Amino acid sequence: MKIEFLGHACFLLESSGYKLLVDPFLTGNKLAAKKADQLVVDYIFVTHGHDDHVGDAISIAKRTGATIVAVVEIVRHLFAPADVKTLAGNIGGRQKAPFGSFKFVPANHGSGVPGALSCGFVIEVEGKKIYHAGDTGLVSEMCFLADEQIDVALLPIGDYYTMGPQDAVKAVELIKPKCVIPMHYNTFPVINQNPHAFKEEVERRNLSRVVVLSPGQVLEL
Ligand code: NI
Ligand code: MN
Repeated sequence: MKIEFLGHACFLLESSGYKLLVDPFLTGNKLAAKKADQLVVDYIFVTHGHDDHVGDAISIAKRTGATIVAVVEIVRHLFAPADVKTLAGNIGGRQKAPFGSFKFVPANHGSGVPGALSCGFVIEVEGKKIYHAGDTGLVSEMCFLADEQIDVALLPIGDYYTMGPQDAVKAVELIKPKCVIPMHYNTFPVINQNPHAFKEEVERRNLSRVVVLSPGQVLEL
C-alpha cells in the first residue's frame, strides 16, 4: 500500500482496492500537493471539526460518493446536514470495513463542535496499521497503542496547537511504531518546525524510523 502526504494533516492511503483520505485540508493550504477536485476516494476520515481538518471533506464526498467517518456529534452537526454518506463512531470503538477496519482513539484537543470529542484513528488496510493522531497533545493513552503494533504513526510536531517535537518524541516512545511520519508543521508561521531535527532525535534514541515527507511524496509499505 501507499501513503501519500498531501500537506498539513492530510494523507491519502491507497491499497489495491481502496482509497482512504484523512483530514482533507487542501483548498486554502498553499502547501497542499493536490487540489480537492483531483481526488477520487472511497472514505474520508475527519479527526475533528476544525477547518484545517474538515477542509474539503464535504465537496469531495458529494462529488465522489465517498463515506465520511467521524465521531457521532461531528457527523450529526457537520456532515449529516450536508447530505453525504457517513459512518459515525466514538472513542474506543473499532468498526470493520471493506478495506479492513478502523478504530477511534483518544486525542486531547478541542473538537470545534460542542459536545464532540476530537479523535485519532487506527486504520487497518491490507494488514498494515496506520495511526493518524489528529490534533493532540501528548496523552498517556498513547501507551495503549503499543498493543496495536502500529506500522506507521502520523504525528503532529508543530507545537502551539498540538504536540511539539519534544512531546512527539515522547509519544513515539509510548506508541512504539515501526515508522513515523511527522505532520502538522510549517503550514502557518506559528507551527514552523524542523522535521529533520525531530527525525534525528527519534533515531538517535533508537525509538523508530522517521520518514519526512514533503507534500506530494509517497511512502510505500
Ligand atoms: Ni485542531
Ligand atoms: Mn489542526
